[in-house]
Amino acid sequence: MVNSRGYSQVKRSSVVRFLSRRPSPSAITVYMILLFAFSLFIFVFNARDILDNEHKSRFSEESLSQNQSQSVQMSNEKLWDTPLNYGLRACASPTAKYKAAQGWDRYITVKSNGGLNQMRTGISDMVAVAHIMNATLVIPQLDKRSFWQDTSTFSDIFDELHFITSLQNDVRIIKELPRELESLPRARKHFTSWSGMGYYEDMKRLWEEFQVIHVAKSDSRLANNDLPLDIQRLRCRTLYHALRFSPLIESLGKKLVERLRSRGGGYIALHLRYEKDMLSFTGCTYGLTQAESEELRLMRENTNHWKVKKINSTEQREEGFCPLTPKEAAIFLQALGYSPSTVIYIAAGEIYGGKSHLVELTSRFPNIVFKETLATPEELKAFSKHASQTAAIDYIISTESDVFIPSYSGNMARAVEGHRRFLGHRKTITPDRKELVKLFDKLQSGQLKGGSSFSHIVQEMHKNRQGAPRKRRGPLPGVKGRARFRTEESFYENPYPECICRSKRANLK
Ligand SMILES: *[C@@H]1O[C@H](CO)[C@@H](O)[C@H](O)[C@H]1NC(C)=O
Ligand SMILES: *[C@@H]1O[C@H](CO)[C@@H](O)[C@H](O)[C@H]1NC(C)=O
Ligand SMILES: *[C@@H]1O[C@H](CO)[C@@H](O)[C@H](O)[C@H]1NC(C)=O
Repeated sequence: MVNSRGYSQVKRSSVVRFLSRRPSPSAITVYMILLFAFSLFIFVFNARDILDNEHKSRFSEESLSQNQSQSVQMSNEKLWDTPLNYGLRACASPTAKYKAAQGWDRYITVKSNGGLNQMRTGISDMVAVAHIMNATLVIPQLDKRSFWQDTSTFSDIFDELHFITSLQNDVRIIKELPRELESLPRARKHFTSWSGMGYYEDMKRLWEEFQVIHVAKSDSRLANNDLPLDIQRLRCRTLYHALRFSPLIESLGKKLVERLRSRGGGYIALHLRYEKDMLSFTGCTYGLTQAESEELRLMRENTNHWKVKKINSTEQREEGFCPLTPKEAAIFLQALGYSPSTVIYIAAGEIYGGKSHLVELTSRFPNIVFKETLATPEELKAFSKHASQTAAIDYIISTESDVFIPSYSGNMARAVEGHRRFLGHRKTITPDRKELVKLFDKLQSGQLKGGSSFSHIVQEMHKNRQGAPRKRRGPLPGVKGRARFRTEESFYENPYPECICRSKRANLK
């Protein structure tokens, strides 16, 4: 931070000198190049400084932890502290040149597809698209046909009025298409996935012929990267601010968080994605009985929109594509150093096989809590037939937890991780599943012993996977064409740098 202040001073004084000498155009060019090179140097220097700090703090902790009792104390801090954030904070306010969309007589209607988090991020993208296309957005219709089979409407899940009013300086949003437009022909569009500004600017030509555009799918329609800062920030304002859950969901979520805290200190939210649909979809049958594997195979064969039917479970697992099993999650938590008394909230739907698989986890961590044990049957009754609404409660409890651990990298895990980064880099420990399964197998075969050396390996493996600030990752190297979009880190998984910055200005959280 000292460096960054030094940088702005240097920059200012050199600009003053530069202005007072009135040099020739070529001198200006040389000057600008030098200035640029110098800025780059300072930037790299700063970045190294951040890394150095991280190493230093870790080494000092290690050298202190020679004594057993001290080691317990230090690691307790390590287990619960949020990662250092280097003065970075949420910044979702628009820039000075930002203007609201003015499209009063053009309308976008949307059918939002997928589960809760796919819909939430998709809706945030559609707000941005409505802004780019200068249109009025009609409150999206929600997917009722997905695996979730949920009949909830937008206002059952979200605070509709808050959504409309909090975005009034961005995009005009209305509840329903005006009646006189209902009968007009609409442009029905499947927008191309991960499209950028050029694509949507081009789509504006549809307004020459149509007054209403209907968007058939909302998931991943907008690029992760290379969009104007104000569009990215609008996505953050929408997802983290405007798309608040309905008052009923919010209040139960808060109540349950308080109940978890009242059990004595911090809690972990474990997104244990060990659910039937996930295991069937990924073809992960490790540790399951023959009959269970067969049941999952049949479900996959019979689900039309899952394209991949033949899956080798062993290979899936070795590639790190399988959710951790309850037993693996337990071994992982133990190795990280969490004590058996730790309060762990299971953020998930129904665990496949119920008690028969869960016992491997609950026997090691008796303070495992489910929403069914945390809330009364009356409290849950209103949500019981609505998978999206119970998922919203899990989302709140996960976002507010002291530590969030996803057992699989799905939409929910990504959305919660991103939100936690935005809220101040709250700790999210992402298991390195590919490396972990190798260790688990060695443990199983007796090649490796459990205990402190195993623990040490697991902790080292995850020291840089705790949700500390870092820029969003671009596409994997070597991937060409549109396929590269799939390999990028999602904007909503890590909205840094656009919505997280080192600004001193008061910012919208
Ligand atoms: C470790 O700490 C305990 C308790 O504070 C103390 O009794 C013991 O002497 C210490 N051991 C070493 C090696 O410093
Ligand atoms: C947006 O639409 C309004 C009319 O609805 C129009 O007056 C305005 O010029 C448009 N702005 C841009 C940038 O296209
Ligand atoms: C699955 O893959 C593993 C490892 O590549 C292999 O040993 C095994 O034979 C395969 N199983 C099937 C049923 O193809």
